[in-house]
Amino acid sequence: MCGIVGYTGNKQAQPIVLESLKKLEYRGYDSSGIATREEKLVICKKEGPIANMESVLPKSDSTLAIAHTRWATHGVPSDVNAHPHSNSENTIAVVHNGTIDNYLDIKENLESEGYKFKSNSDSEVLPALITKHYSGNLVEALNKSLEVIQGIFTIAVIHEDHPDEIVAVRNETPLVIGVGNSENYLASDIYAILKYTQQIIYPLDNQIIRLTSKSIEVFDDSLNKVDYEIEEVEKYTEVSEKGGFEHFMLKEIFEQPKALQDSLTELLIDSPLEKLGLNWKIGSISVVACGTSFHAGLVGKYVIEQLTAIPVSVSYSSEFRYAAPVQGVGGLLSSRPLVVLISQSGETADTLAAARVARQQGCHTIAICNVPGSRITREVDGVILTKSGQEIGVAATKTFLTQMQALYALGIHLGFTSGSIDYPQLKMWESEIRKLPSKLTQVLNNSESIKALAAQFVKSKSVFFVGRNINYPLALEGALKLKEISYIHAEGYPAGELKHGPLALLSEDTPVVAIAVQDHTYSKLISNIEEMSARKTPVITIAQKGDELAKKVSDFCFEIPEIDPVLSPFPIAVFMQLLSYYVAHELGTEIDKPRNLAKSVTVE
Ligand code: M6R
Repeated sequence: MCGIVGYTGNKQAQPIVLESLKKLEYRGYDSSGIATREEKLVICKKEGPIANMESVLPKSDSTLAIAHTRWATHGVPSDVNAHPHSNSENTIAVVHNGTIDNYLDIKENLESEGYKFKSNSDSEVLPALITKHYSGNLVEALNKSLEVIQGIFTIAVIHEDHPDEIVAVRNETPLVIGVGNSENYLASDIYAILKYTQQIIYPLDNQIIRLTSKSIEVFDDSLNKVDYEIEEVEKYTEVSEKGGFEHFMLKEIFEQPKALQDSLTELLIDSPLEKLGLNWKIGSISVVACGTSFHAGLVGKYVIEQLTAIPVSVSYSSEFRYAAPVQGVGGLLSSRPLVVLISQSGETADTLAAARVARQQGCHTIAICNVPGSRITREVDGVILTKSGQEIGVAATKTFLTQMQALYALGIHLGFTSGSIDYPQLKMWESEIRKLPSKLTQVLNNSESIKALAAQFVKSKSVFFVGRNINYPLALEGALKLKEISYIHAEGYPAGELKHGPLALLSEDTPVVAIAVQDHTYSKLISNIEEMSARKTPVITIAQKGDELAKKVSDFCFEIPEIDPVLSPFPIAVFMQLLSYYVAHELGTEIDKPRNLAKSVTVE
């Protein structure tokens, strides 16, 4: 999604913002642009990859710049709709992330006053409004403009008359300020500037920030100066190399044993619940997330309900926000509800909105997140930080596994503290979780057979993934991965549901991937496979090692290592990821940056 960076200092700004902008490429974008201040403001913007814009970028000695990557919401991807946007006199340049909900009204008013717009973008009303309110003070002009704007936004502005100054504000979308020595930075994503500084300020919503090379001022909405805190964040190991892998996604799939290992220290310590402030009787748990994180939440429901007596519901963030209040607030249950928000990026607008709703309802909130310091970690009562390292591929892989691991750890500890499991059981679970990295390695070592299997899928128009119980969410995740990166239509279903409708779609050209682990649903699952085979549908089964029956009823059987069925989602996820990857690879799609998608979805 859109990205913003800015620099004011004592060095040439253009190479700095260009490099920072490239760090945001992984988020997904369709055009980019940079504004610098020479004698006048100079804006260069182009549709397509940053390299398109870079190829026409004029040389610049400016020590001030703002830059942007755009992911179209209003108006098609084009040079003219790209940011920065300027006013008719070209004295102001503005970059904007988010959406201006009332831009049509604002545009109409400004047009009636004679203003001429150049683009179809909602963001163009910003330089127009700021110009209207400008009388020498950019902070005041932005503040007056904010009185009119409805929406969510991060905005950064520069003006020809202020050669050293960037003014910025945010409302519900990310903005961080990087503090340097005679130079300061801003960005919508901390990864963009961590190379330059680890001294970070996290502004609050609607605070206006004035950055110059030597000063940082923060104002509230009455324009009173307010104090701010500078936080030292961990030095960050830059992920710029694919380490010999053809794609980041494949590299990240192979990093999963390490990601689980690195996250263990955070998760399996003696009393993580105290750290999370969970020292009361939890009446119910609502897990809230989007996409792959939602699927991790569904797996978590099975685990937590198995290990505790606590009922768990799982909602899409975009639905949770508008649903009836969580049970347990408003008097339905006597004990306090817990809302667990899962977001690898910590910046997903839908999940952030859900977090706010949960807090307004009086729920205790915890986040499972992979990005330290990200927005969600600052808006909840407790955080479980997964340690997957930066995930560049748009398709979530290693973060999915560490999210599941975090939910298992939560379930185990809640089970123990609520008396549902005893200490030896707690230790047994911890020990099983410690073995997961080696189980994943066994699947990874078998990747060639998954690659060979992928060829069977490339001509399919549609693929079904089915599972039952704890592996139903894995069927959903398998389908999401396949459609996301290969663009083949895929659906995940509870295996028992096919006969209630989708069976009509099965044919020789519609393969089914069936998950058949030996839990209490196994025999039913085998019957389901036989129903599908009877329709001549090719069935690819994922089964536990040595399962002769699964082999017999399927066209192809992939064996996962011996594992407790409750832990089987981990190796199965690796199979699903590799299958999608190799199918997409055969089809030649843009695996790391699939069309229309973004890594961090910062609009609702
Ligand atoms: O950063 P989040 O975990 O909040 O992101 C949620 C979804 O946007 C994300 O999982 C998306 O579905 C992935 N691209 C799936 O691979």
